[in-house]
Amino acid sequence: MTAAVKIAPSILSADFARLGEELRAIDAAGCDYVHLDVMDGHFVPNLTFGPPVIKALRAHTKKPFDVHLMIDPAQPHLEAYAKAGADIITVHVEADAHLDRSLQVIKGLGKKAGVSLNPSTPAESVAYVLDKVDLILVMSVNPGFGGQSFISSQIEKIRRLRQMIGDRPIELEVDGGVNAETARAVVAAGANVLVAGSAVFTGTDYRATIGALRRAAQG
Ligand code: DX5
Ligand code: ZN
Repeated sequence: MTAAVKIAPSILSADFARLGEELRAIDAAGCDYVHLDVMDGHFVPNLTFGPPVIKALRAHTKKPFDVHLMIDPAQPHLEAYAKAGADIITVHVEADAHLDRSLQVIKGLGKKAGVSLNPSTPAESVAYVLDKVDLILVMSVNPGFGGQSFISSQIEKIRRLRQMIGDRPIELEVDGGVNAETARAVVAAGANVLVAGSAVFTGTDYRATIGALRRAAQG
């Protein structure tokens, strides 16, 4: 049977004018992680926020901060994200030249290390870092924006990555177009952490939207 699925609301779809309040609301609604999408307008065609905003948000919840860095380079900034209060720091396999070193730096900062793959990047690109990661993040949309449609070819990639992970204690997270319709297939393929932006924040009752996602995921 599938272990408990974790729900990580992405605040990209939250009200940016009331971020602290939004964080307290998803915490009270029972989220497992808070997913923070950092974009640089270079690696992805959009800009969001950086360490000062994350640091300011830290006071609003004790839930783990799952920081998704869509920035290139990421390595010079890892320490700033660790100091800002990240618990998991995820870098993209397509950014920076030395993924192995980035993962070592994150671990050296005492944080959990994640690696993310764009939709066109093969599962095999992480084969030689499996013993250095705590989390693998499969992008099921091209990163940059919330509210895009799930790219179904990623189901097979999730399945392949779950096989490659074997019995290592690595979380398999999926990000992009995850909603009550797509969650079941994603979890059936082997994912255990679901990022959801628009699916959580579109409604007003976050407990209901997170609950619906959790129920859909468990089948
Ligand atoms: C996209 C981000 C996602 C985004 C997901 O680049 O990494 O975390 O917020 O949004 P939805 O769930 O609306 O597809
Ligand atoms: Zn994300």
